[in-house]
Amino acid sequence: MVFTINSFIMKPINLLLFLISAGFAVTTMLSGCYKHNVEELYPLEACDTVLVSYSAIIEPLIRENCYDCHNSVNYKSNGGNLLLEGYSNLFVVIPDGTLLSSVSQDGKTSRMPRNAPKLDDCTILKIKEWLDQGFPNN
Ligand code: HEC
Repeated sequence: MVFTINSFIMKPINLLLFLISAGFAVTTMLSGCYKHNVEELYPLEACDTVLVSYSAIIEPLIRENCYDCHNSVNYKSNGGNLLLEGYSNLFVVIPDGTLLSSVSQDGKTSRMPRNAPKLDDCTILKIKEWLDQGFPNN
């Protein structure tokens, strides 16, 4: 009788303990996987897209990577007649998605920068973030 009562009491307790430790193990495993996946999928933790302004981020990166061909002096001969200097000129390729398409190289437009390696992921992410924010002239 004692044995029966004992096992009756013990079983749910054991089950409870088992569930708690199993739950803990699963939670630990999942959070481990989650962290792992986030790091794998987004190796951009160091990519700061919070304060992407035109003047501080976008204009300098377009200047560095695109002005060689798309500047006011040679855009007709080297830049396919497309001037990208300054906000209002860059704006021409923004609303229709051409800018993002060309730098992310999705195949719908010419791949840019021409004759140079694709922009790194963080730079493209900054452009995308700025576009998502409504491409302010800030
Ligand atoms: C070495 C010269 C060169 C560089 C550097 C360059 N471009 Fe171009 N770009 C061109 C030429 C030439 C064309 C027109 C012919 C073509 O579409 O390939 C063009 C076309 C484009 C177009 C229109 C594409 C289309 O299919 O309508 C966009 C947008 C563009 N460039 C953006 C950029 C951006 C942004 C950068 C910098 C990240 C850049 N370009 C760097 C030469 C260049």
